[in-house]
Amino acid sequence: MEVVIAPAEELAVLAADAIEALLRRDPATVLGLATGSSPLRVYDELARRHREDGLSFADARGFMLDEYVGLDAAHPQRYRNVIETEIASRVEWPADQVSGPDGLADDIPAACAAYERAIADAGGVDLQLLGIGTDGHIAFNEPGSSLASRTRIKTLTAQTRVDNARFFGDDVDQVPTHCLTQGLGTIMQARHLVLLATGRQKAEAVHQLVEGPISAMWPGTVMQLHPHATVLVDDAAASRLQLGDYYRQTFASKPDWQGL
Ligand code: F6R
Repeated sequence: MEVVIAPAEELAVLAADAIEALLRRDPATVLGLATGSSPLRVYDELARRHREDGLSFADARGFMLDEYVGLDAAHPQRYRNVIETEIASRVEWPADQVSGPDGLADDIPAACAAYERAIADAGGVDLQLLGIGTDGHIAFNEPGSSLASRTRIKTLTAQTRVDNARFFGDDVDQVPTHCLTQGLGTIMQARHLVLLATGRQKAEAVHQLVEGPISAMWPGTVMQLHPHATVLVDDAAASRLQLGDYYRQTFASKPDWQGL
């Protein structure tokens, strides 16, 4: 696992560089998309590169990590709509090339199985962007999630609903209680995991993710088993890392050509 500690703007550039390198090498790259605050600077940077440098998403595929259950199709916080607003529309990504789990499906298990098949049929995810919850979730794999889980319905923890109330007019009762989420086993099949975390409220989750014992209680710790995982954190999110100085030194002495 590589840990990079830098200001948030630099982290976004590093993540965008990794995505751009994939797209330039293979325009039909498959990207894994996260929602929430953490990837927003990356999406801004990709939109800029699309606008100014012609970075193309015309042949790329995108798969979202998760979706709320029961939010109506037009709801601005429905994750498919958030992804459309924050990235897809800004890079002219054809709508039928970006998919998410169907949070309005009548048959939820069938919809989850279909989503797993769609990812596999696309050849799997090349680079998966991730954020982390203050309770250690990645995607919406809340504490206690099986480390081998696949796409399924989950109940959101009270903590996650409080954390996400800011997207729902600070009214926790408006935050859905359930979601569909890629499982930890699904996420672990992506070829490169890139997790972004900023702010002191993420410090304990980041410490556990990088340095804690692998445990369903801190679901992000499963990333320690991935052969190509990158954790991008600012000083505040890195503030509880025991080996912070070592990660800083390692990154400072890394040759530029190496990328993430
Ligand atoms: C969202 C997702 C979640 C968020 C996490 C952090 O698609 O998968 O795991 O990444 O809740 O959210 P922010 O980035 O808003 O702090």
